[in-house]
Amino acid sequence: MAGRPPEPATTTVVLSVDDAVATIRIDRPEKRNALDTATRAELIACLDWAGATPDVRAVVVTGTGGSFAAGADLGETDRIDPLAMRAMLRERRVYHAVAECPVPVIAMIDGYCLGGGCELAMSADLRIASADSVFGQPEIALAIIPGGGGTQRLPRLVGLGQAMRLILTGDRIDAATALRLGLVEQVVPAGELEAATRELCGRITRHARPALTLAKQAVRASAELPLQAGLALETELLCLASTSDESAERLAAFRRGS
Ligand code: COA
Repeated sequence: MAGRPPEPATTTVVLSVDDAVATIRIDRPEKRNALDTATRAELIACLDWAGATPDVRAVVVTGTGGSFAAGADLGETDRIDPLAMRAMLRERRVYHAVAECPVPVIAMIDGYCLGGGCELAMSADLRIASADSVFGQPEIALAIIPGGGGTQRLPRLVGLGQAMRLILTGDRIDAATALRLGLVEQVVPAGELEAATRELCGRITRHARPALTLAKQAVRASAELPLQAGLALETELLCLASTSDESAERLAAFRRGS
């Protein structure tokens, strides 16, 4: 389609676009979709591609074969060199690419959502899960701690006490518990996950892309800004939204009663 940048070449991730929704599927089912270096890089490339593609208005990140992602690939190295790790953690990371993506990113979770997988889901704007999904931050069992934002995003989603409990115990929780805690926004029967996600995406992508971008930016800023600064940003972004052609068209259509 005209206006689309060339799609990134991928081997461990599958990218597809349907009806304004780009779906990015981690495709290493034999490794429970563990996030190795190549997969993380391809996720970033696909997220950047989706963000730069004008007709995309939402992104779904998911996994194939009954797992979302079982965390960092523990097979990549037998001992982590702290200096190499520091260099790697200072690079642009997949969690940032999700946050910076100008359109809403929805994590569609089926099965294991552990460690870096759970952190990937938490960095998304919305999370929808199948009823038999399993969540957790098991890093403590490896004598390490979460490194993909888990210690910061989990307390913001579920509160300090529940985050502490999950991170200190390494315990897994089921989807119903994740929903009750606020780790996911929606849980559906396993066979209905794709349809429910499509329906959710449709309710988002019917809206104008500039408004989606600005709404995402404003709501995300609320996690970091004091109230007055957040309200000031909201005012600026609303003014910006109201300058878009889409806003003028939709207002005119409302006045015409169409
Ligand atoms: N990194 C690398 N490989 C992984 C992996 C990970 N995080 N998680 C699973 N795999 C691999 C297994 O090594 C196995 O590979 P093999 O068939 O070549 O031996 C394959 O995926 C299937 O895993 P298996 O444990 O047999 O499947 P399961 O369905 O019984 O259990 C999990 C799935 C996810 C519960 C289990 O694999 C697990 O606990 N993984 C580690 C999760 C973790 O600690 N993540 C945080 C990392 S910081």
